[in-house]
Amino acid sequence: MEKYGLIKSFIIYSMIAFILTGIILSQITYSHIRKDDLSNIVEIATVSTKSIVKNNLEKVDFGQVFSASKVQEIESNLNEFMSAFSIESITVLNNKREIVMSTGEWPFSVEEKQNKLNLDKIINHSLPYIVSDAFVANESASTKSNITYFNFFITVYYENGVEGVFVLRMPSKSISAHADLLTQEIALALTGGLLLLFLLLIGLLYKTSKTLINQNEHLNMRKNEVEESYKRLDDSYKSTVIAMSNAVDARDSYTAGHSNRVSEISILLGQELGLSDTDLKNLHYATLFHDIGKIGISDSILNKNGKLSNVEYEIIKEHPDIGVKILKGIDFLADALTIIRHHHERFDGGGYPCGLKGEEIPLGSRIIAIADTYDAMTSNRPYRLGINHELALSKIIENKGSQFDSKLIDVFLMLEKRIYTQKQTNMLIDRVEKLL
Ligand SMILES: [Fe+2]
Repeated sequence: MEKYGLIKSFIIYSMIAFILTGIILSQITYSHIRKDDLSNIVEIATVSTKSIVKNNLEKVDFGQVFSASKVQEIESNLNEFMSAFSIESITVLNNKREIVMSTGEWPFSVEEKQNKLNLDKIINHSLPYIVSDAFVANESASTKSNITYFNFFITVYYENGVEGVFVLRMPSKSISAHADLLTQEIALALTGGLLLLFLLLIGLLYKTSKTLINQNEHLNMRKNEVEESYKRLDDSYKSTVIAMSNAVDARDSYTAGHSNRVSEISILLGQELGLSDTDLKNLHYATLFHDIGKIGISDSILNKNGKLSNVEYEIIKEHPDIGVKILKGIDFLADALTIIRHHHERFDGGGYPCGLKGEEIPLGSRIIAIADTYDAMTSNRPYRLGINHELALSKIIENKGSQFDSKLIDVFLMLEKRIYTQKQTNMLIDRVEKLL
């Protein structure tokens, strides 16, 4: 994992978020300021106009063009308001849509006045102000292309209805400039605040990342230590298993390595039968300890040089159950116990200790029965030589279907050449120790 990769990602993504937030906030702020400015101007313009109408005009004045002195009076009263809000011109129309006063150029063409201006809407107060494009609205202003204006319409009421409309014309850029300025100031303050927050967060993230990296390194160290301990424990456990298995072989006076060879032959059969890794491992343990119960049988019976009496044979038959008692409670051997217990059952039901028959006998036990018999027959004992491979094969075949599972014998016969070669070269012992 790249060091401080988290911080890099944070900086990149937060910068993107930061810029996007800034743009969105600026737009929202700008739009609100502009709207507020316009509302203020409408309010002030309305109040100023009403004051002029009240103090300087009467209803009768709207019937004709205002006199020069009246225009001057109105202009001087509105002067402060006009310069404060950059009002470019004031035009007054009467209710017959005739211009009765104009301080500048009338912003609309005749057509505009009749069609677009829509004085009725203004009179009904449904159009307090509109934004018009000077280029489109006023042909005479074509030289001022691309300049837009706000036109504020303020109606003049007397008791019998609307007598006229004041039209105040203002370049929209004066509102925009004010909104721009305010937006810039707000954006600046906001940027400063967010930048400070951003730096604090980076600092915090850097500190957290450093702590996490240190913790991770510490955990890795601990993991390595645990793995090392586990390996040592595993090695020691394997040595114990091998030692126990060798002790079983020594106790029975068989040629050294009997359990290992039974194990290797059984594993070959198990693999050929497609057993899972877990089943192979349990089979392996069962083969190593299948005769451990013989520890509980006296030497005089176990190594008796001659035929066993019925009583002695009954004692020998106890070794699978004795084995289970010895190994009970060892966790990793729990699943191997059933296999161990039934490794002397016969396929025809004539075996011991339970007289199970056919597939009632665990598969592992049926496999061990073949491997065990083959190795016992072909190995030398202190009191006799082992028989040769071919003779052992013929005896095994003779017991196919009675002592042994026929299907397993077929598999055994498929593998017999490999088993023979491996036994001759002692490869079985070496290989089986590697399996652990
Ligand atoms: Fe046995």
